[in-house]
Amino acid sequence: MNNKHLLTLHDWSTEEILDALELAKQLKEEQKAGIVHHHLKGKTLGMIFSKSSTRTRVSFEVGMYQLGGSALFLSANDIQLGRGESIYDTANVLSRFVDGIMIRTFKQSDVEDLAKYGSIPIINGLTDLVHPCQILADFQTVIEKKGKLKGLKMAFIGDGNNVAHSLLYGCAKVGMDIAVASPKGYECNAEVVKNAMEDAKATGAKITITNSPEEAIKDADAVYADTWVSMGQESDKEEKVKIFMPYQINKELFSLAKPDAIFLHCLPAYRGYEVTEDVIDGPNSVIFDEAENRLHAQKAVMVKLMK
Ligand code: CP
Ligand code: NVA
Repeated sequence: MNNKHLLTLHDWSTEEILDALELAKQLKEEQKAGIVHHHLKGKTLGMIFSKSSTRTRVSFEVGMYQLGGSALFLSANDIQLGRGESIYDTANVLSRFVDGIMIRTFKQSDVEDLAKYGSIPIINGLTDLVHPCQILADFQTVIEKKGKLKGLKMAFIGDGNNVAHSLLYGCAKVGMDIAVASPKGYECNAEVVKNAMEDAKATGAKITITNSPEEAIKDADAVYADTWVSMGQESDKEEKVKIFMPYQINKELFSLAKPDAIFLHCLPAYRGYEVTEDVIDGPNSVIFDEAENRLHAQKAVMVKLMK
């Protein structure tokens, strides 16, 4: 693979994304069948976390173990990076010890700098801008449930955040239509939308950015919610809840999607806010398959980048 990192899905070609999804499917089948696949025997992944995590941490750590390697949890608070050591020095030093780095942090530029200064593959485990690993798992889930991506419609209702941005990038690359509905003032980053629209020209994906949840969700095959308050933005919480309530995915709003639409959520979820219990715990919800697929999709990414 030419591409040595996973910084955003915008950097990956359609073919690279589809290949990773194919490998993720194969790795999942092998793991379920008890077939050992030690593609990364003896390799080590460093995992830097400046924010909390359940799924990302556990899926990368278990995934690395299943691939025959090992993973190191590096809390940013406990390594010198948290005390001001530069990204330049951190990248150079870690490149001498480990075979790849997964990083979850605030600034996208820190992830890009790690890739620039280090000599090993860098995997973005979430920044304020994007969350590419999540979307690979989401796509694997959509393929399992719907058999394809191209030609389907995804609706993301809520904050124009990191998950929305990666969905835009991913859908544009795979030819899946996407509509994002956010309140005024909480729309997606204009540059991300512009890049996605550019990529969509090649695949025919239709991209809709709107303030109307009804418009976005209409006839959707997959409906996506995320928290209204992302990590690091907790101070706005009370004001946001008032602004976002009309964007709650409840039974009434969900009924505007296709009758067999699936419900996706990256988790963690806040029932009664971005989604009601009857939807997230209802028959159309696939959230736990989606969470499981973080493991398989990220194993595919690690094999592609680190083997
Ligand atoms: N969806 C996701 O990235 O979950 P964590 O924050 O638990 O890693
Ligand atoms: N948008 C959320 C995603 C969590 C996985 C956040 O950044 O907190």
